[in-house]
Amino acid sequence: MSETIGFIGVGQIGGTVARLAVDAGYKVVLSNSRGPESLSGVISSLGENAKADTSANIAKDKNIKIIVLSIPLNAVPTLLPSLGLKNKVILDTSNYYPVREGNLEELDSNKLTTSEYVSKYLDSSNKLVKIFNNIFSFHLRNSATQDESNQTILPIAGDDDEAKKLTNDFVQKIGYKTYDVGPSSLSWKFEPNTPFYGGIYLPEAPKDLDHDGLKEFYKKSQANPLTYEKAKEVLDSTERSTVVGGRPENYPKYLTEIVYDLYAQQAKDKASGNSKLIL
Ligand SMILES: NC(=O)c1ccc[n+]([C@@H]2O[C@H](COP(=O)([O-])OP(=O)(O)OC[C@H]3O[C@@H](n4cnc5c(N)ncnc54)[C@H](OP(=O)(O)O)[C@@H]3O)[C@@H](O)[C@H]2O)c1
Ligand SMILES: *[C@@H]1O[C@H](CO)[C@@H](O)[C@H](O)[C@H]1NC(C)=O
Repeated sequence: MSETIGFIGVGQIGGTVARLAVDAGYKVVLSNSRGPESLSGVISSLGENAKADTSANIAKDKNIKIIVLSIPLNAVPTLLPSLGLKNKVILDTSNYYPVREGNLEELDSNKLTTSEYVSKYLDSSNKLVKIFNNIFSFHLRNSATQDESNQTILPIAGDDDEAKKLTNDFVQKIGYKTYDVGPSSLSWKFEPNTPFYGGIYLPEAPKDLDHDGLKEFYKKSQANPLTYEKAKEVLDSTERSTVVGGRPENYPKYLTEIVYDLYAQQAKDKASGNSKLIL
């Protein structure tokens, strides 16, 4: 029997990881804020190995060891304590965006990393591993490959080695390699305002592309395959920024627009009552 991965949040990132997991032979159980019926379109495009349930039922399911948590950070403080999550490996994709969350003092002051902030809302029997937060959803979708010589690296951070091993097994099966950056306190090394946050994966665009051309190029592009040596070199020399959190206004416009177009597509599907996988 194949392993089942649970999902809390199935938007750009959660939905993409679910797609890759099903493609790799896993079963998935998906949940969002609106309830299982709203996910029927997503389930039917993923096929018979996907089903929808509530986040609370996924939290209680003893057959599920790994849960991908991919909701806006502002939903974490209320949702997580209400679910009764225990003994799970939580793959946390969260990023801090002050424009979305409002300012959070513990994060702005670098007292906590975003992983440590999320962990505060989890029972201590759960093991959080930060992953998938630093790659654009379209790159995550386009770049999975079983060809190891051509695979890219996803940094991970967490305080439990066994959980990181399980994460690595999962990630390898869906077509990536992991690089263990260390404990949750070091997850800032691949949070916003670092080289490993999105930028390192960007391939070089052909010259002379205009704004629309760049959007089209990047949306279809694959992330740079990175070696361990390259990852090590960059991560070892990354310094902690006093500017904390994602600042969309600082990113190239063609990239923010790809992401915003995807959010707009999701909002449209949502309004029509039929969420879809957008990638
Ligand atoms: N987009 C990217 O390229 C990217 C890349 C890396 C990391 N991230 C980070 O990953 C996280 C998720 O981002 P995203 O872009 O995937 O978001 P998204 O597309 O907006 O999807 C969010 C998902 O979370 C669900 N959700 C919201 N509140 C919930 C609640 N209270 N209970 C259960 N489910 C809830 C939503 O369900 P409903 O639709 O029913 O509300 C939706 O399925 C964020 O922290 C983001 O910064 C994003
Ligand atoms: C891997 O390499 C080939 C070129 O040899 C390329 O066409 C392919 O798209 C690459 N990336 C992935 C993710 O497979």
